[in-house]
Amino acid sequence: MKIEEFNYIRRNGRFTKAQKCAYKNLYSKYRADLRQLSSLKRPFGLEIGFGMGEQFIEWARSVPDTWHLIGVELYKPGVGAMLSKADKLGLSNLSFIDQPIQIVLSDIVAEGIDEVRIFFPDPWPKKKHAKRRLLNTEFVHELSRKMAAGASLTIATDWEHYALEISSIMACSSAFVSKEIGPKSHCLMEEERVDYSGETKFEARGIRLGHRIWHLAYKKIRELKTQTKA
Ligand SMILES: C[S@@+](CC[C@H](N)C(=O)[O-])C[C@H]1O[C@@H](n2cnc3c(N)ncnc32)[C@H](O)[C@@H]1O
Repeated sequence: MKIEEFNYIRRNGRFTKAQKCAYKNLYSKYRADLRQLSSLKRPFGLEIGFGMGEQFIEWARSVPDTWHLIGVELYKPGVGAMLSKADKLGLSNLSFIDQPIQIVLSDIVAEGIDEVRIFFPDPWPKKKHAKRRLLNTEFVHELSRKMAAGASLTIATDWEHYALEISSIMACSSAFVSKEIGPKSHCLMEEERVDYSGETKFEARGIRLGHRIWHLAYKKIRELKTQTKA
């Protein structure tokens, strides 16, 4: 995969003074080295598309320093916002990567991730943009290879069509089970939070627009070995 394939992901936007300052001064302190992804400290958690970092920061605060969390986000003001909060709080159990997750994942060892969180991934509601959706069969397959047995995957979205699509992709994966009901169950938990805290910008936006919030929670049970690409 080449980085140019992901040019549709927005990197630039307006910074506040504090975000710009944090981005400039703290970037190298917290930027994870892709070359170290093959030998990560465990337990290791990954948040994909952390936006302004609200949930990511809460996650880092809630786990002991034995954990190492990596947040993946390309939007520079968001990275700046997250860095500013992390540094004020003196958090030392997190770092970030500003590359598309599809590229980052290829550098992570098989079964090397202990938890994955994805909050409000871009829904790309237009049919012509559907290919840009992060959660598709191929991505779920790749994620399953990189997650350890027993690892959790938590997803939230305020777009019903995306929630249904994700739910059916996950129901077809033999590597995951829904956490809430039994194996292969098709589980959508509307407006019922799973175990995370910290309302994100896009969650608040969804609520403001009167959207329902969909929470999906899975557990990795085993590696997908049999699936082949069509
Ligand atoms: C709709 S925003 C949600 C942000 C945040 N999680 C929230 O709930 O407010 C989706 C975020 O995912 C990031 N993103 C999109 N595609 C990505 C990819 N392939 N790899 C990493 N981040 C990605 C975008 O930059 C964007 O900030």
